[in-house]
Amino acid sequence: MLFSPITIGTLNLKNRIVRSATLEGMADKDGNPSEEYIKYYQNILNQNIGLVITGFMYVNVEGKAIQPGQASLCSESVIPLYKKITNRKGDTKIFAQISHCGRQTDRKVTGGNLWAPSKKRSLYFGGVPDILSEEKINSIIRDYCNSAYFAKLAGFDGIQLHAAHGYLIHQFILSSVNKRSDIYGIDSKKGIGTFFFEKVIEGVREKCGEEFPISVKISGADDYGNTFNQKKLRELVRFLDSKNICLIEISYGTMDYPLNIIRGSDIPIDSILKYNLKYKTESIVKKFIFKKCLLPVLKTKIKKNYKSYNEQYAQIAKEETKIPIVLVGGLRSREEMERQLSNKSCDMISMCRPFICENDLAVKLLNKKNYSSCCISCNLCLIMCDTDKPTRCYQKVCNGS
Ligand SMILES: Cc1cc2nc3c(=O)[nH]c(=O)nc-3n(C[C@H](O)[C@H](O)[C@H](O)COP(=O)(O)O)c2cc1C
Ligand code: SF4
Repeated sequence: MLFSPITIGTLNLKNRIVRSATLEGMADKDGNPSEEYIKYYQNILNQNIGLVITGFMYVNVEGKAIQPGQASLCSESVIPLYKKITNRKGDTKIFAQISHCGRQTDRKVTGGNLWAPSKKRSLYFGGVPDILSEEKINSIIRDYCNSAYFAKLAGFDGIQLHAAHGYLIHQFILSSVNKRSDIYGIDSKKGIGTFFFEKVIEGVREKCGEEFPISVKISGADDYGNTFNQKKLRELVRFLDSKNICLIEISYGTMDYPLNIIRGSDIPIDSILKYNLKYKTESIVKKFIFKKCLLPVLKTKIKKNYKSYNEQYAQIAKEETKIPIVLVGGLRSREEMERQLSNKSCDMISMCRPFICENDLAVKLLNKKNYSSCCISCNLCLIMCDTDKPTRCYQKVCNGS
């Protein structure tokens, strides 16, 4: 099934393999994609993948991430650069992932501002955000629409709205973050906030036309107990169903616990203390305290299962909609991918780290029925996103990307 075609909205995809959004770390300080970025995509678009989704691109500078090298989609000037990618592609489709970080960033990179639906701080990022006024919300919605339009002009086949991992759209959805009492607050019957999301989707449609494919990435659950429960996930999927979205990718969590979004075989603590923008330290004493006191606490919060770990949420989504569902997170062997598809837990399989490891993964999966990715989920590539190095695999098991 993995290599059978599928239609999503107005697009025909050659197979059911998605390269999940992956921060490239290859743009300059103004967000312009470098030659390396362009070559990377020119290459991966010829590797037998059904759909490639770019790393998250910022819709305005205030929505930029803390990781260096994030690409921008907030001005017309970037269009000719992305065209160098879209002009050269074969039958693989490519979507631009567009995003605003909201409270999940740092004032140092956003020019001094930190915006969110309410004052609540992110556990991981720490800064107390300013509450978005309606006027400011409208201006951010316009920025999403402009970015989507720039993506269309640049020749992308569609967009993916990043509504997962605790970024701005997700901040409006979650009752644990969104404490507003206006129209952008939580719907008391549904228990989620979808008005901001709705305005973004409707605005993009108006600007880019009904036919322009809009996909979304959402989190099936988070780490705050039962605050985003199954009922709320069902409500969210029903909402998306009513909005004619072409594809829903099911991920997990918020950046409060990044290692639950991107699960791994271990916590790479030495690399975290060396490179992580929030925790890095030279101090032997601090390292000692971290390892002896904080690490054991962290370990209790980090989920152990790292194989196909979003399956249950994808199954719930499948029950609520006919929109194709994409499962991401911990998919490694072709056998497991075929199992998920034939069980009808999802319609497509998405992978990130395996493609960092082997950009020709889809060719290998086609040629060998028992192929399994050589990614060992060590997460060093994730930790290194905090440095100014381009994203790549840090194990010697791969052929690079
Ligand atoms: C280095 C790295 C960069 C990532 N960048 C993004 C991103 O830009 N946008 C996004 O939605 N998810 C991003 N993710 C998450 C992945 O898309 C994916 O949801 C997650 O890694 C689980 O899939 P996997 O087990 O196939 O790696 C990133 C993950 C890694 C490891
Ligand atoms: S560094 Fe390589 S092996 Fe480790 S998680 Fe990343 S891609 Fe996989």
